[in-house]
Order: sequence, then C-alpha cells, then structure tokens
Amino acid sequence: MESFSELLLKLVEASRNHERYRDIECVNLIASEGLKSPAVNQMLSLSNDLEGRYAEGENDLEGHVKIRYYQGQKYMSLIENYAADLMKSLFKCTWADVRLVSGTHANLATFKGLSQASKNRKMVVTPLSCGAHISHDYAGLAGAVLGLENINHVYSIDELNIDPDKSAHVIRAAKPGIVTFGGSLFLFPHPIKELKAVADEVGAYVAYDASHVLGLIAGGVFQDPFGEGADFITSSTHKTFPGPQGGVILGNPKNPRLEKATKAIQFAVFPLSASNTHLGRLPALGIAALEMKLFGAELAKQTVKNAQTAGQYLCENGVHVLCESKGFTKSHQLAVDVSDFGGGKKLAQELEDAHIILNKNLLPYDDQDDRDNPSGLRIGFQDVTRRGFREGDIKHLCDLILSVIKSKRKPVEVKEDVIALKKEFNHVKYGFQSVEEAIKFAEKA
Ligand SMILES: Cc1ncc(COP(=O)(O)O)c(C=O)c1O
Repeated sequence: MESFSELLLKLVEASRNHERYRDIECVNLIASEGLKSPAVNQMLSLSNDLEGRYAEGENDLEGHVKIRYYQGQKYMSLIENYAADLMKSLFKCTWADVRLVSGTHANLATFKGLSQASKNRKMVVTPLSCGAHISHDYAGLAGAVLGLENINHVYSIDELNIDPDKSAHVIRAAKPGIVTFGGSLFLFPHPIKELKAVADEVGAYVAYDASHVLGLIAGGVFQDPFGEGADFITSSTHKTFPGPQGGVILGNPKNPRLEKATKAIQFAVFPLSASNTHLGRLPALGIAALEMKLFGAELAKQTVKNAQTAGQYLCENGVHVLCESKGFTKSHQLAVDVSDFGGGKKLAQELEDAHIILNKNLLPYDDQDDRDNPSGLRIGFQDVTRRGFREGDIKHLCDLILSVIKSKRKPVEVKEDVIALKKEFNHVKYGFQSVEEAIKFAEKA
C-alpha cells in the first residue's frame, strides 16, 4: 500500500490530468453532460463559503424560504429565493424548488410527493429498455427505493416514442397516481398533450423528466411540457441546461389539488431526503439561467440542427442512424446502430482511444440482459455546439468518427486530428466569459 503522501500526490496529479484530458484534448459527445461557461465556473469559485453551509427548513408555494432551522441565513435565504425566481421566470411557472442536488433527487422527491398526494402507488412510465432513466424504473429509485408499482407506457420502437393510443388504454386500465414522461434516450417529444386528458380522467398527476432536454425547452424548442399539460417538471441542471451539477423541480400550484401535491413534494425534499442542499451552486445556476434567457434560443436551435446534420451525414455514409423517416432526431441526441461494425462496446472504446468520448447504448430492440453487447451508440451534440461547432464542423467530426467506425484509420492516428480540432474549439460560446461580463449585460437588459 502506498503511503498517505504518495496517495495524495497521485490524487492531485490524476485530477490535473483529468482536467487537461477531458477539457482540452477530448471531444465530448456524451448526451447527458453539459458544458458550463467561464462565468458559471467563476461564480462557483466565488461561492466557497456558501458551499459549506446548511439551510434546512421549509419553503412556501412560490419556492421562497419560509422557515429555516439554522442561524446565519441573512443572505442565504435571498440567494435561494433569487435562484428560484430566475428559474421560474425562465420557465414561465410560479413555483421552483432549487434545493435538489441532482435530477435523481428531483425524481425522488416528486415521485414520493405525488404518490403521497394521490394516495396511489402506481406510476406509468416509459420502459427502461426504451429510454427511461433508472430512477423511473421498478429496478431503481421508483420501485426499489420508493416501492412504487411501475406500469409501462406502450412504446413504438419504429417511432422511438410512446404510442399515445395504446398508452391511453394502459392508463385507463391501471388508474395510476402518476403518469411520467421524459427519459434518457429521448429523441422525440413525448405525447403529453395526447395523454393529459386521460391522466385527468383517472386522477393522475403528470410528471415530466426534462433532465436531458431542459436547455432545449429553455430555448423554446423540442416541446413545451407545461403548455402541453405537465403538472410538474423534474430535471438535472447540467445537461443541455449548462448549469452546475444539481436538480430542480418546477410547477404551477394554481389550485388546491396542485397545492397539495406541491406541499407533499416539498416535504419529500425536506425533511425526507435532504439536509445540506449544495448551496454553493445556486449563484452559478442563476448565471446559467441568464445565459439561457439571452442565448438559449440560438443555442438550442443550433444544437438540434447539429444533431440532425450528423444523423444525415452518418446515414449517407452507410451507418444505420435510427429514425431516418422522422429526420433522425428533434433533440440533442442521435441513436446509432453500429452492430454491422462490431457493436457499441467495441466502437465506444475505439472512439475513446481516438479521444472522441461517447457512450455505448442498448437499443430498444437489443436483449436487455446482454448489457455487454449493445448494438448502439448514443451521441449528444450539446457540448460541441456550445463550443461553436456548426454544420461543416460537425461533418468534419463525423468524418473522424466514420474513419474509426469503418476501421479506415487507427484510433491513435485519429486522436492527433481530434486534439487539433479541439484546439480550434476551446472557447465556450452562447454564454459569458466572466461574472463581470454577465453583470454588465444584465444591467443593460
Ligand atoms: C432522464 C433522466 N433523469 C434523471 C437523470 C439523473 O440525473 P442526475 O445525474 O442529475 O441525478 C438522468 C441522468 O442522465 C436522466 O437521463
């Protein structure tokens, strides 16, 4: 066993190496990761004291601090209120809870609260095999932790989407307390509008997990969950929404039924599932919200355009990109079947060797028990878009990907081109370079 100091030196060295490797030398196409601006990073570094504090207590139905059980809260309560108000303003809703430390935490509190409020333990969700997150599933948080009974939406593999007509039958028959939309493999807007009336008919709350697409929604593309009938939005704040790692729940408690549900969710946040709430991220979350207010529309549009461009280009070059007939995607992601080229596991590793980082993915028609043999890759374009990639750059990146997929070049050779390409795009766009810059912009607006 190494000595304590040897371990410490190695730890620091590994973290320095990581920063250089992933931020400078690799192209990131992981669909669940975001890219923070220098201003958001700077704000995080200016919130060191806050990062160590506690603020246990209760909030009101606007998401503002009501009671705190700790002293020293003079500014902390303001910080939480302002962060909640910025998220409410951005997403045009009347309640936000920003105390969640992750998207999973947001789901935990929401599913727990809604099952309590509806006195119903049944939840209709997308099947895990078709792109739901593990926190939605009976094998994960929803079932194994909260003890909910999961019933699956009927999913069309051809459409890569929930089948609204067949799911209506499922919801009517199951009479759940919660109908959930959203997911991790999430290429097309889910049919909230089509199923809202059915959820109402059986008295179910509608929850929408926007973790992957929150930035797209902020930018006015993909879908409008509240406009289409969602009662609550749960989300991470660090995927297409380029904030610090954290979570949020949004809602409009405009009638007694929704007020009751909101209070149950708040209770599930505190005291049930949070003590410290990682307060140091809140000022940075506010800066990210401002960036999305100002630049979100342009960023979201370009992100989807880049994903569609890559879909078309890979397809034209002989790769099976799912859902060609629907234009490949309406989000930041593509699902690609690479079983003809050795499968997802082999190619994700070879692409990593070329410094192109993306995830292998079981596709809905794969044997879900054979996790080691996925036929797919899931590719996300939010990071490269924020770095300024446009259609031509995306095609160039696809050429590098294709040369690995088709074994035309060795990954180590491609790596040199990837590092050179990344050098040209090491500047974060659609955001601010410093907190000062953000403040100047906000003062002018
Ligand atoms: C749909 C969905 N919900 C929730 C989560 C969990 O998010 P977090 O990592 O913030 O807990 C993910 C993670 O990727 C996700 O895809």
